[in-house]
Amino acid sequence: MCGIVGCILKDDKKDVAPILFDCISKLEYRGYDSIGLATFDDENIHIKKDKGKINEVNEKLDLQDMAGNFGIAHVRWATHGDPSKLNSHPQVDENVEIAVVHNGIIENNTKIKADLEKEGHIFKSDTDTEVIPHLIEKFMDEGFDLEHAVRKTIEVIEGAYAIAVISSREPDKIIATRKDSPLIVGIGEDGYYLASDSPAILKYAKDIIYPERDEIVILDKSGVVVHDEFDNVVNKQIDTINWTPEMAEKEGYDHFMIKEINEQATAVRNTLTQRDNIKNIIDDLGDIDRICFVACGTSYHASLTGKYLLESLAGISTDVILASEFKYSAKTLDDKTLVIFISQSGETADSLKALDIANETSKTLGIVNVAGSSITRRAKYVIQTQAGPEIGVAATKTYVSQLTAIYLFAALLADDNDLLDELYNVPDYIDEVLADFEEVKILSNRYHFAKDFFYLGRGYVYPTALEGALKLKEISYIHGEGYAAGELKHGPLALIDEGIPVVVIIPPGDAYKKTMSNLEEVKSRGASVLAIGGSGDEDLKSKAQDVFYINCDVGELIAPLVYIVPLQLLSYYVTLEKGFDPDKPRNLAKCVTVE
Ligand code: AGP
Repeated sequence: MCGIVGCILKDDKKDVAPILFDCISKLEYRGYDSIGLATFDDENIHIKKDKGKINEVNEKLDLQDMAGNFGIAHVRWATHGDPSKLNSHPQVDENVEIAVVHNGIIENNTKIKADLEKEGHIFKSDTDTEVIPHLIEKFMDEGFDLEHAVRKTIEVIEGAYAIAVISSREPDKIIATRKDSPLIVGIGEDGYYLASDSPAILKYAKDIIYPERDEIVILDKSGVVVHDEFDNVVNKQIDTINWTPEMAEKEGYDHFMIKEINEQATAVRNTLTQRDNIKNIIDDLGDIDRICFVACGTSYHASLTGKYLLESLAGISTDVILASEFKYSAKTLDDKTLVIFISQSGETADSLKALDIANETSKTLGIVNVAGSSITRRAKYVIQTQAGPEIGVAATKTYVSQLTAIYLFAALLADDNDLLDELYNVPDYIDEVLADFEEVKILSNRYHFAKDFFYLGRGYVYPTALEGALKLKEISYIHGEGYAAGELKHGPLALIDEGIPVVVIIPPGDAYKKTMSNLEEVKSRGASVLAIGGSGDEDLKSKAQDVFYINCDVGELIAPLVYIVPLQLLSYYVTLEKGFDPDKPRNLAKCVTVE
């Protein structure tokens, strides 16, 4: 949802553009509608920007060839104004004396723009962001220095923002601030950095500061200073990122998505190390009579699995609420409700808003992959999933890591030692499934012409069906719907027609027989059934057109952790067959920082 970076180098004579370009390239998963850089040299701000993906624009403009030892950069996921050169960031004032990159939405931009136009300001773009350089210009004209002009500006703007600003009127510094959009500050050997997310700066800085809402960050070549609203210097804690730069590279894979699918066994193994932390959290929680999961997208599907586990294993009444709908349930919360926020990024705007509401009445727990993200700082308890950086827009390894954390939580709460032991076998099961990837490739070749897909699952694997369908639609643009297998006959069965693919997730277990009946129902109406079943299930061969066997002993209780893998692979290979880029699905961005 837009990515911003900034950098000022200690060495005056070194050009920052190649570093800015490298950093912003690592954030392409946050938006690929346009890219732009601004640097300062020879008394002037220089800007190169255009619509299009980073490589396309770079081929045209040679973005690394810009003079100046400090600057800012941006990748855009358009909200206000179509993807175009004019709407690309950096946005500037009339005289190009102030340049701004922004992630977020300025909700009152229309009114501000109208007021500024009355005062003679001329706007050139359709963006909400353009009001920011104009407001800073206005306040600098009134006599404020750059830092205080930015301070005055954030008193006027409403909405979410992380912004970085440079000005030729007050050069040799970058000013940044944030509210409800992520921003980190990196302290490196050669310079100082700003970024929306850590993969941007892993190569350059390990020491990180997390600015809080409306703190003003001033970067110059001698260091970083953070001011609060009263201009006091804030003594910020410095954290160290333990991710390596290689973790955010493709490392020989064609796409991040397939690399991340292949890292899932490691992600599960590493997340299992959270067992003691989770036990401590459970011991500290006290009296809880209800659990409420709050999340979006894939994280919502992980949460749904959590409901099945907590209700069946621990007997705790559990709800799962989409973060964007959460406020309508706020009155049901009390101090005996534990509200669990699941998020890969820890920055999803809908989840953050819900967290603020939940914090007023209830105990809150974040299950989050990105260290230092807003949810980790605002939730009372935190479980950090250990998937490493996930760059592909479609969540894969973070999903199985979230599931792992939820399984640990449920098994520890229910004192289920058999399940706890079994979890340590899951990495091997995942690797066994991955070894059969060629079979999924063949299936993808057979199925990629389909216009619609259905995914059916019952019990523990119903959320797996939802997640399989989401993976397919978000990257291949094929319409996919997940259903509880027993629900199909209550309406959607009318859509089943000759040859329509129906993926039936049918692990061995209590739900097996009923799922098999549902398989028969769709088959008898002409569906082309692709079953994902347990090894040795010979029956499936005669019932389904195609079967992908999970060749290890995985029962329905832990099936969600393993049966999702062929579905992720199916989406990936179908997308390749269709000629699309699985890492950069149209209209989507990795981190959704607007409501
Ligand atoms: C998953 O493939 C999607 N990209 C999306 O649904 C995602 O899971 C959702 O936006 C929630 O993000 P979060 O986990 O970072 O909060």
